[in-house]
Amino acid sequence: MLLRHFLVAIGILLLAQVTVHVDAQQSSTVQYSDSEFSGDPDEPRRHTRVTNPATLSGPEAEAIYHDLAPAMEATFSLSPSAIARDYRAWSRFNTAPYRSATHGQRFINNYANAVGAAYGRHEDAGVLPVGAILVKDSFTVTDDGMVEAGPLFIMEKMDDGFNYVTGNWRYTLVLADGAVYGQTLGDGAQRVEYCISCHLAAQVQGADHIFFVPEAFRLP
Ligand code: HEC
Repeated sequence: MLLRHFLVAIGILLLAQVTVHVDAQQSSTVQYSDSEFSGDPDEPRRHTRVTNPATLSGPEAEAIYHDLAPAMEATFSLSPSAIARDYRAWSRFNTAPYRSATHGQRFINNYANAVGAAYGRHEDAGVLPVGAILVKDSFTVTDDGMVEAGPLFIMEKMDDGFNYVTGNWRYTLVLADGAVYGQTLGDGAQRVEYCISCHLAAQVQGADHIFFVPEAFRLP
């Protein structure tokens, strides 16, 4: 008897939670709840169930990214950063979003503009030309299955003489709401200083301050 009440209560709770709530204006949060996945078995299911955030497969992460993309695009289309508005039309260099320990455990994707196409040659990329732009977008999946759009991590190759220490790269962090949070030699420069020091380690390894897409997620 008690057990039945308990199960009914759980059922009601789950029903009340049917939310795919992506509001581009307010937030980019998608709640994946069990009830979404208990519908008609013949109907294709729109969402991947996020019950295993720690061990999401590539296709699962890709499906989540796909669902989140319209809200991210809508938000970034209003950003003062032209890069945030444009990057989704550029080439993506990873097969599926992967978790980046060095960028806050977020799931991330790597894009480059046409000038930065050599990024796709990985360790053979050499020094990227002036005008190359690399963009990493991101989202988080919390332990309880919440999916949330995250910041953009941007590297732009500037003219010679821009900044010797950064290899003439300008780092920019654009928040999930499109606001520019910090930029090398610009507003909030101190907020992106930590990017420089870590990416310097790549230079020590002989690369142009870039680390490249992890092998498991490189395009064939
Ligand atoms: C603790 C080290 C570390 C910090 C701090 C860091 N990065 Fe990275 N970054 C990496 C590594 C490692 C990769 C490649 C692997 C990956 O994607 O996680 C990378 C990749 C990138 C890329 C793609 C180009 C490439 O190197 O492959 C961009 C763009 C980028 N980071 C921007 C930033 C920005 C902007 C910041 C600061 C807001 C930042 N990073 C902070 C280590 C770091």
